[in-house]
Amino acid sequence: MPFPPDFAWGTATASYQIEGAIEEDGRGRSIWDTFSHTPGKTANGDTGDVACDHYHRWADDLDLIASYGLNAYRFSVAWPRIQPSGRGPANQKGIDFYRRLVDRLVEKGIRPAATLYHWDLPQALQDDGGGWQNREIVDRFAEYAAIVYEALGDGVAWWITHNEPWCVAAVGHRMGVHAPGLRDIVAELRTAHHLLLSHGRAVEAYRASGRTAPIGITLNLSPTYPERESDADRAAARLSDAYTNRWYLDPVFRGEYPADLLEVFTARHGLDWVRDGDLAAARQPIDFLGVNYYNRSVVRAPEPGEAAEFPWVVSSRRSPDIPLSAMGWEITPETFTDLLVRLKDDYGSPPILITENGAAMDDDVSADGEVHDPRRVEFYRGHLAAIEEAIGHGVDVRGYFAWSLMDNFEWGEGYTRRFGITYVDYPTQRRIPKDSARWYAEVARRNGLG
Ligand code: FCB
Repeated sequence: MPFPPDFAWGTATASYQIEGAIEEDGRGRSIWDTFSHTPGKTANGDTGDVACDHYHRWADDLDLIASYGLNAYRFSVAWPRIQPSGRGPANQKGIDFYRRLVDRLVEKGIRPAATLYHWDLPQALQDDGGGWQNREIVDRFAEYAAIVYEALGDGVAWWITHNEPWCVAAVGHRMGVHAPGLRDIVAELRTAHHLLLSHGRAVEAYRASGRTAPIGITLNLSPTYPERESDADRAAARLSDAYTNRWYLDPVFRGEYPADLLEVFTARHGLDWVRDGDLAAARQPIDFLGVNYYNRSVVRAPEPGEAAEFPWVVSSRRSPDIPLSAMGWEITPETFTDLLVRLKDDYGSPPILITENGAAMDDDVSADGEVHDPRRVEFYRGHLAAIEEAIGHGVDVRGYFAWSLMDNFEWGEGYTRRFGITYVDYPTQRRIPKDSARWYAEVARRNGLG
C-alpha cells in the first residue's frame, strides 16, 4: 500500500472561481471583478458574478464531496468578504459564511484545507499603491491572516498562505493576462518579493496564535527540461527553472534567492525593494509544501539575434506522441515523479500535499445524461501512479486534491475550460458527477489505485 493510511483524498476550488454573489453580505470589490469586467480581458467577457453560485449552494456542494467519499476539501477565503476594503475590522457576515462551511465539513468528516489568498485581492488595496507591488501589503496580509486564523482556527486542518505566487506575479503583473493585468517585469519582481515576505509574516502570525494545525504555502512547480541536449539549452533550462521554481522554493526553504538568476535580475532591475532580513523573514519553518502540478516546461536558448525577454525561450516544439489537454498543456505524468523526487533531494524531504492536479477536457453531456470523460480518468490514473512511484522513492506525500470539484470560472479562459470532476450546467446550475468523479471516489475508498 503506497499511500499512507491517513492520506488526504480531496478536491479543490477557489473562491472567485465558484462563489458568485459578489455583492452579497458586504463583500468588497476584488481585482478580479474589475479585471473580468474590463472588455477584452476574459473569454466571452465572462465574469465570476454568478460562477457556480456556490455562495448559495454550498451545502449541496459539500454533500456532493461527501457523496464521493472524499476526506478532504481545499477552498479559499475571499479576502474582500472578510475585509471589504482590505483593512480594518472584519465583516462578520463574510466570516459566518466560511464558519458554516468549515463546521459542516468537520461534521461530515471532511478535513478543510483553507487557502488565504487565491488571487481575489481587495480592489481598494490595488488602488492604494498598487496592491502587491506596495510593501505595505505585507502588514495588511498578516492582519487579514490573523483574523481568519481566529475565526476558523478550530476547524481548519491545513492552512495555505498563498496559492501560486509565480502566477500572481508573472501572469498578473508581467504577462497581463490575469488581474491586475499589468505588463511590467519590475511589478512582477516586486510582487513576488512581497508575496514571499507576506507568506513569512503570515506563518509567524500563525505560530504566535499558538495553533498547531499544519501550515504551508502552495507553489505551482514545473520540472524544466532543455529542448536539445546542448550546453546552451541546458543553461537556459537551469535559468528558467530558477525563474519558475527556485525563485519561490529557495526563499521559502533556504532564505535566499537562487544565485544564478539573482545575478541576472540584479544587473537588469536593481531589486532595490529587497531589504536586509526580508529573505530570512520569508523562510519560516513550514509543516508542508503544497504542490500544484499541471505540466512540464521545455525551453531552449535564444537563437543569435532573436529578441527574447529572458535568457531562455519556452519551446514551441511539440512531439506528436505527447497528448495535450484542452488547455494545450502536455500530459506527461512521469515528469511529475521527477519533480517530487527533486523536491525531496533538494529541499530536505518536506511533507508534501498535492494541492492541485487535473486537466481541462472538452466535456459534453451524452445522450444518456452522463458525462463520460475517459481522458480525464487516464490523466488522474497516470498522475496518481506517478505519485505512487515518488512515494516509493521516499517522497513524503500526504495528500492529493483533484482540481477541481466542479467546472468553474477558469480565470482568463472564463467558462470555456472545464476542469471539474463534476460537470456544471451553467444555465441551470445543475451538477452532474462525471465518470472521473466516480472513478476517483473508488480510488479514495481503496486508498490507492489498487
Ligand atoms: C491553477 C490555479 C487554479 C486553476 C488551475 C487550472 O493555476 O491555481 O485556480 O485555475 O490552475
